[in-house]
Amino acid sequence: MTGTERAGRRIDTSKPHPARVYDWFLGGKDNYPVDEQLGEQITALDPGAPRTARANRWFMQRATRLVVRQAGIRQFLDIGTGIPTAPNLHQIAQSTAPDARIVYVDNDPIVLAHAEALLRGTPEGATEYLQADAREPLTILQQASRVLDFDRPVALSLIALLHFIPDADGAHELVSTLVDALAPGSCLVLSAMTADLEPEKVERGIAAYAAGGVTLVARTHAEVSSIFKGLEPTDPGIVSVSDWHPELAEGESPLGDGPISLYGGVAFKP
Ligand SMILES: C[S@@+](CC[C@H](N)C(=O)[O-])C[C@H]1O[C@@H](n2cnc3c(N)ncnc32)[C@H](O)[C@@H]1O
Repeated sequence: MTGTERAGRRIDTSKPHPARVYDWFLGGKDNYPVDEQLGEQITALDPGAPRTARANRWFMQRATRLVVRQAGIRQFLDIGTGIPTAPNLHQIAQSTAPDARIVYVDNDPIVLAHAEALLRGTPEGATEYLQADAREPLTILQQASRVLDFDRPVALSLIALLHFIPDADGAHELVSTLVDALAPGSCLVLSAMTADLEPEKVERGIAAYAAGGVTLVARTHAEVSSIFKGLEPTDPGIVSVSDWHPELAEGESPLGDGPISLYGGVAFKP
């Protein structure tokens, strides 16, 4: 484990945490009654919330396949990893490229508590976990450079992370700092919540999170696109995650019909 301090990190079970609520949506067991309570409140307002979580996870799998198989990238920096849910990013990447090197980052101590599951990668590759905050990108880059060679392409994945970080907290600046450190041929894989497609439902969900003490921001298509500034999006551009390269899926769709209020895309650094 790299750059982590096991001692002194406390898991706060008195209030809900995004990683654990998301785990609850995905049917996981690594959550507490406060997380379940908020998950139930959100689902009462937006019965599609668990489906959105599954759609996001499914996007991660397809995007990782495209990055490994079509772009040939072998290094990943995944920030906002979440509680392990198989298949994790390293399992998708290393199933095609056993030598793939992955650094996972999250700021929630519960993810650290489960990090061993994220570290069981191939012997040819590398999988490491950092406990760090995305709002401190220079710290992340410095620690990740022990595992990743930033002179070669890296896929920076910020999947369902940035809606927890308002613009006022430096969302754009942290992405710029990270992207600036990447070599040409690197890419940004991103998904982020939008209220463009189902405004009332998403606003109700945001209000439920706020009542649980969790700030969420929805971004318009133009706002999400602006996060990719200076990068070249691969087809079909920035679209609802359910519409992004469905042909890269393996197995049955877990989704059914209806919009998914997350924009996603993959864009490359020239
Ligand atoms: C909705 S989960 C997404 C998990 C995974 N990326 C996925 O898409 O399946 C969001 C994750 O971002 C993490 N997170 C939120 N704010 C963060 C921050 N400022 N720095 C690092 N991680 C953060 C949460 O702890 C949570 O694990």
